[in-house]
Amino acid sequence: MKVTVIGAGNVGASTAYGLAQKNIVNEIVLIDVLEGVPQGKALDMYQSAPVEGYDTRIIGTNNYADTKNSDVIVMTAGKPRKPGMSREDLLSVNIEIVKDAIGKAAKESPNAFLIVVANPLDAMCYGALKVSGFPSHRVCGMAGILDTARFRAFIAMELHMSVRDIDAIVLGGHGDTMVPVTRLTMVGGVPLTSLVSKERIDAMVTRTQNGGAEIVKLLGTSAWYAPAAATVETVESYVLDQKRVLPSAAWLQGQYGVKDLFMGVPVVVGRGGVEKILEIPLNDDEKAMFKASADKVRATVEETKVLLNK
Ligand code: NAI
Ligand code: 2OP
Repeated sequence: MKVTVIGAGNVGASTAYGLAQKNIVNEIVLIDVLEGVPQGKALDMYQSAPVEGYDTRIIGTNNYADTKNSDVIVMTAGKPRKPGMSREDLLSVNIEIVKDAIGKAAKESPNAFLIVVANPLDAMCYGALKVSGFPSHRVCGMAGILDTARFRAFIAMELHMSVRDIDAIVLGGHGDTMVPVTRLTMVGGVPLTSLVSKERIDAMVTRTQNGGAEIVKLLGTSAWYAPAAATVETVESYVLDQKRVLPSAAWLQGQYGVKDLFMGVPVVVGRGGVEKILEIPLNDDEKAMFKASADKVRATVEETKVLLNK
């Protein structure tokens, strides 16, 4: 098993390192336009292998020939947000990076499973689908695991209970219109709505929707530890054919009333890629929130189409 991680920045390097520590793939290729950076980080990571006890080889490169025949491509290359920016502000720069990087990587590894991380996520998934020419079940976006993890973390902090026992799902686009489904959120089988007031739940929902921006404001750039952990979880489910049900951006063809858009929904990830899209029966309020999120994603995708044809 060979995994290429495009972009050796914060998310890419952390993904490579987190994946190496799992010891589940033979080789990780870290590629970036910056000369020396992927090579240096890969060497540093490999030098932790004797201490950590993993056998995964890690190679840094600027040459796509080294990525040949990868089983998985993780696309993290792209500008992150600075304070005050929305994810959509990154569109014109990052779509050019998708054109360049995905164009080259897909040629070298035409059978790979492609996991997109770069923002604006749902639009970058669209760009990656078109540029790669891959079938839609071999393209997905990582965001829902992160957004759901943030929601779970905020609930755990509020209730002083273990994150492990909080079962939640955040649907929709990776932006401030995302949809944490509070009605179905359980804490050890107990509905969240019976444990905490509506006001507190609303506050946690809002904090989740702004979870990325909260970190950008603190750090001056976007998050990477949780994003990398979420990306590794997706790679792991594919590589080990775990068939995990993971909230991920998938190409919708009528599910949730949406067609021809990537949106965050629960999907089964295994060696067939996105093997199944699961539909949650939503109530009218949740459907309206999902639709508002889809409208926002569609507007960004329309802009993406123009940029792709330039
Ligand atoms: P970063 O700036 O630390 O790293 C980006 C890397 O991409 C840099 O090393 C840069 O040299 C490289 N790069 C630029 N153009 C390239 C090209 N054509 N080919 C190969 N490499 C190229 O940024 P960071 O923090 O790693 O974030 C990366 C992207 O991931 C951003 O767009 C960010 O918004 C997004 N992100 C998405 C998340 C999600 O939930 N989907 C979560 C966190 C970040
Ligand atoms: C995040 O949610 C910036 O999309 C990135 O942290």
